[in-house]
Amino acid sequence: MNISTDQKRRLEEAARLAHRHSYSPYSRFPVGAAVLTTSGAIFSGCNVENASLGLTQCAERNAVAQAISQGERRILAIAVYTPTARPTPPCGACRQVLAEFSCDAIVLCVCDGDDRLETTLHDLLPDAFAANHTADGEES
Ligand code: THU
Repeated sequence: MNISTDQKRRLEEAARLAHRHSYSPYSRFPVGAAVLTTSGAIFSGCNVENASLGLTQCAERNAVAQAISQGERRILAIAVYTPTARPTPPCGACRQVLAEFSCDAIVLCVCDGDDRLETTLHDLLPDAFAANHTADGEES
């Protein structure tokens, strides 16, 4: 599904703002993310690190959790901002979590440089593992 230029602009702005709250003393790599849901609302999140490192939560998954916690179930698009010269695409774990709540979300990755990446979740994670696969397993 397509979203408007204005929705993209607002999503990008929310992701840029969200990175300011990043808790990333270990990597010093602050990330902001924002998701647009079918209701038209935008939910944002930042990465939250932990001294254990392994318990670090990515910005994308925190944005998804915000949306789902408010009763949303469908994500149309996500913007990710990193303060880098090149855009940074979501990690594999975040792609899988996004796939749970999206048919084929638009993924916008923006940074401090002019470069931007606009793609889809399907292109980033083709043949995603989903609930229908476990249902098939039960039938056989
Ligand atoms: N990070 C994200 O927030 N999103 C990604 O898709 C990749 C990585 C965070 C996790 C960690 O806090 C820092 O970036 C360095 O990996």
